[in-house]
Amino acid sequence: MNRNFALEFVRVTEAAALSCSRYMGRGDEKLADQAAVDAMREALNSIEFDGRVVIGEGERDEAPMLYIGEKVGKGGSARLDLALDPLEGTTICANGLNNSISVIAIAEDGNFLHAPDCYMEKIAVGPEAMGAIDLNHTPTQNLKEIAKAKKCLVSDLTAIILDRPRHQELIKEVRMSGARIWLIGDGDVSAAIATTQPGSGVDVLFGTGGAPEGVIAAAALRCRGGDFVGRLILKKDDEIARARKMGIEDPNKIYSIHQLAKGNVMFSATGVTQGTFLNGIRLFPGGAYSHSIVMRSETGTVRYIQTEHHFKTGHLV
Ligand code: FBP
Repeated sequence: MNRNFALEFVRVTEAAALSCSRYMGRGDEKLADQAAVDAMREALNSIEFDGRVVIGEGERDEAPMLYIGEKVGKGGSARLDLALDPLEGTTICANGLNNSISVIAIAEDGNFLHAPDCYMEKIAVGPEAMGAIDLNHTPTQNLKEIAKAKKCLVSDLTAIILDRPRHQELIKEVRMSGARIWLIGDGDVSAAIATTQPGSGVDVLFGTGGAPEGVIAAAALRCRGGDFVGRLILKKDDEIARARKMGIEDPNKIYSIHQLAKGNVMFSATGVTQGTFLNGIRLFPGGAYSHSIVMRSETGTVRYIQTEHHFKTGHLV
């Protein structure tokens, strides 16, 4: 994969973040999401490549744009699959809270799991705890293994968990183990990435969130050298049947990070609201600053890009 694509795609997340950040704190999730989708689509269609959305806004009938299967790009010899979320954390953005991002991951044709829009049970850790996580183990066992790998005590660890009623038992067990907990309202992609950031204060993400977000987080952690495991939550017959149509034979399969995002992967995210590892969009008269992270799994290079955008000089990005 041409390494320059990484820099092409940061323009895409910048455009989406700049556009939806206008709706930060305005209380309208749909408006913010639509602004991000429109801007991301326009930016994608200005790049020379033959792209296909694999993880997107939903299925064609429910998502008029950036739907699963949509072709994007100007065309060209590079055939790439995209896992994207123009605004990850719509509620966060609508409420002006922390950690909403615009995000896109890119892989060669066929390398992302075609995850249906269901839930996924997930564990994510940074590079030091690679190989220490297992969804067949209890949270207590996982925490012990992570602590062993990180050469610390379980009580030194912080687990980040979505604050949801379905996580009551999980939260109880993590508390019993002695580890600390950071409960978040939304945004488990940036929470998963935070486990790889030295100094973020987060050691592990536990819990159930969106499956599409799981594939995107796995792609990010492939670039960072972290680890991720996921299991789709498919209970009802119609969910299992839909997943089968997408090529998922075993509804209980536990996916490794490499089964979720194979081969060479590139990842770009731009902060929308202020966050743990990215600053949000900051406006100044006639322009804005954005803060992005761009990563490639092939080299492990991580670039932080701070951009100054001037609206008057024509193009937004
Ligand atoms: P959206 O950007 O689609 O609003 O997703 C936010 C999010 O918090 C994800 O980060 C997470 O994976 C999922 O929602 C959790 O789903 P739910 O809110 O149904 O528990």
